[in-house]
Amino acid sequence: MEWTREMRYRKLSDVPEEEYLKLLDETDRAPWRQHFHIQPPTGLLNDPNGFVYYKGEYHLFYQWFPLGAVHGVKYWYHLTSHDLVTFKAHGAALAPDTTFDSHGVYSGSAIVVDEQLHVVYTGNHRTADWERIPYQLVAVLTSQDFVKREQPIIKGPHTGYTEHFRDPKVWFDNGSYFAVIGAQRLDQTGTIVVYRSPDFKDWEFVSELKTDYTDFGYMWECPDYFELDGHDVILFCPQGVEADGEQYKNIHQSGYLLGTLDKETFQMTHGDFIELDHGFDFYAPQTTLAEDGRRLLIGWMGLPDTAYPTDAYNWANCLTIPRELTVEDGRLRQRPLKEWQKRRGTVETAEGYAMKHNIKLHPYEGNCYELLVDIIENESTEFYIELRVSKKESTLLSYNQRERRFTLDRSESGQLAGDEDTRRSVVLEHDLRHIQVFMDESSIEIFLNHGERVMTARIFPAGDARGIRTSTESGQVYFKFTKYQLL
Ligand code: FRU
Repeated sequence: MEWTREMRYRKLSDVPEEEYLKLLDETDRAPWRQHFHIQPPTGLLNDPNGFVYYKGEYHLFYQWFPLGAVHGVKYWYHLTSHDLVTFKAHGAALAPDTTFDSHGVYSGSAIVVDEQLHVVYTGNHRTADWERIPYQLVAVLTSQDFVKREQPIIKGPHTGYTEHFRDPKVWFDNGSYFAVIGAQRLDQTGTIVVYRSPDFKDWEFVSELKTDYTDFGYMWECPDYFELDGHDVILFCPQGVEADGEQYKNIHQSGYLLGTLDKETFQMTHGDFIELDHGFDFYAPQTTLAEDGRRLLIGWMGLPDTAYPTDAYNWANCLTIPRELTVEDGRLRQRPLKEWQKRRGTVETAEGYAMKHNIKLHPYEGNCYELLVDIIENESTEFYIELRVSKKESTLLSYNQRERRFTLDRSESGQLAGDEDTRRSVVLEHDLRHIQVFMDESSIEIFLNHGERVMTARIFPAGDARGIRTSTESGQVYFKFTKYQLL
């Protein structure tokens, strides 16, 4: 189906109830619906937004186009959770219903100001000539709804920047509120700008956030800033960075700089840009502080400008499971939230040697589970763990011991997502001892050595692809498998 501009900008309020209910029902019955990931009830999900802890619960939103698998006019879809394991859906909290956000309630963040939950986001406005004007807007949660403030806090891009000026992430520090905003300079390079406010009402431009990456992609989306374990961390998503060996292979990147941020000059002293994820489908993550002070991250398990097999069924994308961040050995580590152990149901274990020929772990199989693999002894040149195996399909994880190279190969995973490029590899700093996999109906998240590296990907296998098997190129490995059904 051809999505015309008119269709992309059709609002939910203009859709007759029966038409929407039909879409809801069709989506519910569509293939590859997830069991334990946050996914849209209809249409397309992208960035997580407004992730915050407020008065005993977590609020989380996502970018949502309700009417199909395209990036049409965006809403904020609202969820809440007491435990970060199960989420309650509340539907659209912010709709594109004012002049300032007429063409999309774009990404942003949340903060508690004077005990009230405030969300800050970019209103995407288009003029009659289709010129884009970005406004930074605020809405406040009252007992029932979010009430939008009448006037933007920042009107249009700051001088020296283009219309690509969006995704405010706000925080409070030393008596002031700050916001980082993703921006594009007039010379078409990406950057981040910083604003400050004494009262969350009047905002002033402070400066660019200065890094050594002065020419690194044409736009930086979804910036985030936080302090963690004595370090300053800047996350952002540069667009237009070219692939370089095993790095930057996705269409757009998502990564971070770790170092020290001077809060007067906004000069960041930092190491190299490091990718957060080494899989295929990860973008626009957002972090927040947990009630107990842990730094949590949720990402979009998808990418802009990418087609997925579910598009044919009018829905697309999901969020990652929540992860806890720490800094270890000068890098961020991501571990699945320990709260998720609550989801564990029946456990099955298997242990023994994997050798050159295939060993099928039977009846050890499934399509939704958490799998822990302990690598107790590894004398193989390369070992293979195949998941979601059927006669025709298999999702292949392999590890080359000499190179410490771990590879995810989805060429036989079922229907292809994205382009033909079906392998991603990452070289580990330590020998691989532990693999933790979260397998859902149409995704896989792989945590290597307790979050030393992470690989996130959508896969689109057939329903009968449920087997698990292991083998090696040569030599043997002693594995211990622990598999939990996830409730
Ligand atoms: C990132 C992004 C943001 C924008 C939003 C629109 O995926 O392009 O920059 O605010 O999505 O949905």
